[in-house]
Amino acid sequence: MVAAKDTQAQLDALAESILAANVCPELRDQATQLVMGDGNPDAEIVFIGEAPGKNEDLQGKPFVGAAGKFLNEMLAQAGMDRSDVYITNIVKYRPPNNRDPLPEEKAAFWPYLLKQLEIIQPKVVITLGRHSMEYFLPGLKIGQIHGEPKRIQFGDHKIVIMPLFHPAAALYNGGLRQTLIDDFLKVPEVIRQLSH
Ligand code: URA
Repeated sequence: MVAAKDTQAQLDALAESILAANVCPELRDQATQLVMGDGNPDAEIVFIGEAPGKNEDLQGKPFVGAAGKFLNEMLAQAGMDRSDVYITNIVKYRPPNNRDPLPEEKAAFWPYLLKQLEIIQPKVVITLGRHSMEYFLPGLKIGQIHGEPKRIQFGDHKIVIMPLFHPAAALYNGGLRQTLIDDFLKVPEVIRQLSH
């Protein structure tokens, strides 16, 4: 429990440093709040989405709208829930009208995402959609590599990146929805293999 508290305290300090550095002031001015992350700060699995939407902006937590409900359902099917994992986004303020985050907004938040991962030290990072994937696996196409775990060097240790489609994109597209569910159900096996 002490460790969990320490990790959360470091994440809180990181959130303070984002505010102090005035990252993406235009987004900040239009957003309700910074949406840092949710779940277990000592998790072995971190999910990284794109940016908060309307509900996330209002509640201060990632993935609490329709895409979040779908994510929760897939977690349950894979035998997990939100308290087993940590969930965040590459961009931590809501872009106006839910537009895609701009390249400069992703670039501005990237160093903070790296620090967030250094604090949490997950074994597996699951990218949701191409916006977070492109930073970990540059030059690769999600349509070709979704559901395939890739081991990458990360600082002084290796982590596994598992690229998945974004739940919001898959929500209303039957084929993509089933592909995402099938990919998602591989996650427990990826974790199991890592602990051998
Ligand atoms: N979509 C995302 O990428 N992130 C959220 O937090 C919600 C929807």
